[in-house]
Amino acid sequence: MKNGHAIETKNLTKKFGAFTALDSLNLKIENGAIHGLLGPNGAGKTTAIKILCGLLKPSGGEAHIFGNKVPDRSILPQIGYMPQETALYTELSVHHNLSLYGELYGMSRSAIAQREQELLQFIALEKWRNEPVSNLSGGMKHRVSLACSMIHEPKLLFLDEPTVGVDPELRASFWEYFDKLKATGITIVLTTHYMDEAQHCDKIGLLRQGRLIAGARRRRLRA
Ligand SMILES: Nc1ncnc2c1ncn2[C@@H]1O[C@H](COP(=O)(O)OP(=O)(O)OP(=O)(O)O)[C@@H](O)[C@H]1O
Ligand SMILES: [Mg+2]
Repeated sequence: MKNGHAIETKNLTKKFGAFTALDSLNLKIENGAIHGLLGPNGAGKTTAIKILCGLLKPSGGEAHIFGNKVPDRSILPQIGYMPQETALYTELSVHHNLSLYGELYGMSRSAIAQREQELLQFIALEKWRNEPVSNLSGGMKHRVSLACSMIHEPKLLFLDEPTVGVDPELRASFWEYFDKLKATGITIVLTTHYMDEAQHCDKIGLLRQGRLIAGARRRRLRA
C-alpha cells in the first residue's frame, strides 16, 4: 500500500436540496503525504471531509479510503478527525476529554495514559490537564481538539482548519509535528486559508463553489 492511494474519490457530489455543495470531486491522495484543501468560505472543504469520514452521505459518485468504499465502519479506527467546530465536552477537564476519546476507540487505560502524556506535551498544555475545557482560550481548545483526534494513533488524519486561532509560534510547531507524522507514514488531509501553510503541503487542491479548480504539487507552488 506504500505507494498506493490513501484516498480516491470519483465524481463525489453532495447536494443539499437543490444546492450543490460538492460537484463531481475527483481526488487522489497518496499514502504518507500531506494534502491541503484550500478555498474560500463555502467552497465545500468541510463537506468533502465529512463525507470521507462517513459523517455525510454523498448524493453521487464514490470515495475509497485504503481501498474500502466509504462509509465503512471497519476503517474508522484508522481515521482521526478534527472537526472545524471543536467537539469537546467543555465541562470536563482536558485529561477527561482525552481519556474519553481514547476509550471511544477502545484503547486500554495504560495506552491512553502514555499517549496523553505525549500529546499534552505536543500541544503544550501539561499545566492545564485538570482544568475544565470551558476555562481554556479558543486557541487552547483548538489544540485539545487536535490532540483528541490523534489519541488512537490513526494512519489517516483529517484536520479541518487545525491552525485557526493558534498563535504563530505554536503554528510552526504544529507544522513540525505534521512533518514528523508524515515521516512515520501517516497521511494528513487538512484545510487551510493560509497560502504559506499550503506551501508545506505535498499537494494542494483548490476548491471553489464545490469544484476542484486547480491542483498542484509542492514543487510548482514554490516555483
Ligand atoms: N447541512 C447543510 N445544509 C445546507 N447547506 C449546507 C449544509 N452544510 C453545508 N452547506 C452548504 O454547503 C456549502 C459548502 O459548505 P462547507 O462547510 O463545505 O464549506 P467550507 O469550504 O468548509 O467553508 P469554510 O471555509 O467556511 O469552512 C456552503 O454553501 C454551505 O452553506
Ligand atoms: Mg469548513
